[in-house]
Amino acid sequence: MTLLRTSVHTSPSLALTDLERESWQKLISALDRQNDQSVDSGFRTMIVASRTATGADARTVVLRQADAIRKYIWFHTDVRAAKVMQFEAFPDSTLLFWNDNQQIQLRLIVETHLHTNDYVADEQWKTLGVGNRKNYLSEYVPGSEQPGPYPGFPAHLGADLPSMDDSEAGRKNFAVIECRVLTMEYLHLSRDGQVRARFQYEPDSKMAWLAP
Ligand SMILES: Cc1cc2nc3c(=O)[nH]c(=O)nc-3n(C[C@H](O)[C@H](O)[C@H](O)COP(=O)(O)O)c2cc1C
Repeated sequence: MTLLRTSVHTSPSLALTDLERESWQKLISALDRQNDQSVDSGFRTMIVASRTATGADARTVVLRQADAIRKYIWFHTDVRAAKVMQFEAFPDSTLLFWNDNQQIQLRLIVETHLHTNDYVADEQWKTLGVGNRKNYLSEYVPGSEQPGPYPGFPAHLGADLPSMDDSEAGRKNFAVIECRVLTMEYLHLSRDGQVRARFQYEPDSKMAWLAP
């Protein structure tokens, strides 16, 4: 933080550029560390907000891919989930990350795009192990009422994993939501003073420090 403040006074645009790069690097690092339980997990999940016909909705999802150069974020979901219909009607969304250890919030204004029967979804499906694929074997529409608790996959599987062959039945339910980042906002909380900045990519590229 000291370094950033010093830079602000000497070369504001450089410091903002550094902060923007660091922010994306935090997301990329979270992906590198998805399987390592011992490291800071703050940016592995995010809250995804959506618009509905009557108001707003939000839920937690796992960050699956990030492109710091082209400014894209991807997450996975069941194609039958309510959020998919919401994004088809209202493609704009906000992605919200909070890292409690680092006391950093990243707020991304994005435009979503659904991938189901295409190359993008095929490629991401190939990267999933059977543990993740199991989540796409549900016989029922997510959110549909059931007579009792339903585990989200055929009950006979229990704690077992499907074979790779059997897991292919989940492909038809699998969707990738691609998020084109229009703006990223950074907020760091600290007793020494907070740091808030906005990095806008679309329609124009510009960066600014903001009052917290
Ligand atoms: C830690 C955590 C991670 C989750 N990851 C995902 C995910 O990657 N994709 C997903 O569709 N749902 C995920 N969920 C479940 C969603 O929060 C949500 O309950 C579900 O997708 C239904 O949302 P919808 O009815 O708004 O479509 C996750 C939930 C938690 C608590």
